[in-house]
Amino acid sequence: MRIQDIIARKRDGGTLSPEEIRYFVAAYTAGDLPDYQASALLMAIYLRGMDMGETAALTAAMADSGQRLDLSSLPGPTLDKHSTGGVGDKASLVVVPILAAAGIPVCKMSGRGLGHTGGTLDKLESIPGFRVGLSPAEMMAQVARVGACLAGQTEDVAPADKKLYALRDATATVGSLPLIVGSILSKKLAGGADAFVFDVKVGSGALVASEAAARELARALVRGAASHGKQAVALLTDMDEPLGDTIGNALEVREAIATLTPGTAGVSSRFRDLCLTLAAEGLALAGRATAASGDAHALAQKLLEEGKAREVFRAIVEAQNGDTRVVDNPDRLPRAPLIVPVEAQAAGYVARIDAAALGGVVVALGGGRARKEDAIDYGVGIVLHRHVGDAVENGTVLAEMHVAASAQAQALRSQVASAFSITERAVSRPPLIIGRETAKL
Ligand code: URA
Repeated sequence: MRIQDIIARKRDGGTLSPEEIRYFVAAYTAGDLPDYQASALLMAIYLRGMDMGETAALTAAMADSGQRLDLSSLPGPTLDKHSTGGVGDKASLVVVPILAAAGIPVCKMSGRGLGHTGGTLDKLESIPGFRVGLSPAEMMAQVARVGACLAGQTEDVAPADKKLYALRDATATVGSLPLIVGSILSKKLAGGADAFVFDVKVGSGALVASEAAARELARALVRGAASHGKQAVALLTDMDEPLGDTIGNALEVREAIATLTPGTAGVSSRFRDLCLTLAAEGLALAGRATAASGDAHALAQKLLEEGKAREVFRAIVEAQNGDTRVVDNPDRLPRAPLIVPVEAQAAGYVARIDAAALGGVVVALGGGRARKEDAIDYGVGIVLHRHVGDAVENGTVLAEMHVAASAQAQALRSQVASAFSITERAVSRPPLIIGRETAKL
């Protein structure tokens, strides 16, 4: 098999055989294919697409490029949850504990921040001592003991994705539907769960901006999962504005803990609703309740309101060497020394909050990485005081920047202010849940 022939066929709009796809994935993962040839094929796939059969073959080849976790010793069904990534998205910190509190084992492997979107691992590492680098054996032992783990993907799980994702990032080929599906689904399949809940973000702060593209991605994910014998649900959820009230690692952990803690005043109802809806889908997939009747949502709410999910969160923090005192006293999380308010420059209604722009500001503040080796400042970020649809006066505080130094705030303050569009006419807030996709097994 010659890679030049494979590239040429895809370049000319042809269909690749499963053998050709397996050859490409195996050779590139093993280091037997130079980046320039792999890049050429990725660009050909980006421009020409892949049909369902090719996408399934790519997914399987990537999932089989390393170890597949065997969760069969856990009492099934086991569940996994995946978000396509957004700004302020800390839902895993709440959803995983709710599912585990219902007795559903969740072995969750998460990623780090990518571009303007945050990553669950970076958020968790803002908890002093928290260890994300668990071996597969440690993950299994922890899930058996406390119901869930929140860990980093091991080197050995879908290694093809790690290499291909880095190359896609450097060659402007991230936004290809079959490549996204292969990347996400291969990691989920290698993670070994029986069923998946996907949160496909839609909007300016998401991987895909249009509803049509997000729906196509959601359908491809659930159909791809079904073709591998896995049950799955994908929700399409709004990412035109940031999720919840906070952006930034420790600030988001603080918000997640507030949401998990019964009776906490002032938690974002939109964030809480998203967590309950995602958890309800997981409970229904695991057969604990039915989604349509509202039972699943009621059960998720009960587990949250009775503090059961919070207990599981604390157990996960303890099991992974984190300082559990942050659960009772989130002030122990890293905090930025300076808080700088950003005020509205006119009266009116908040029509839009540019999630990608605010995510970019948090990265520039040091809350994310411009380069892989950059260190993170866990305390910095943005707290939103107003959301889309809210009325504001001239001078109303729209947001607070949590910064390490005032020079930083001066440089970025205008970017935060201009991320808020204020109009004279009243604006209604777009729905949080935009759609839902499932596929029959
Ligand atoms: N998230 C992933 O894991 N992979 C992609 O390709 C895009 C988002």
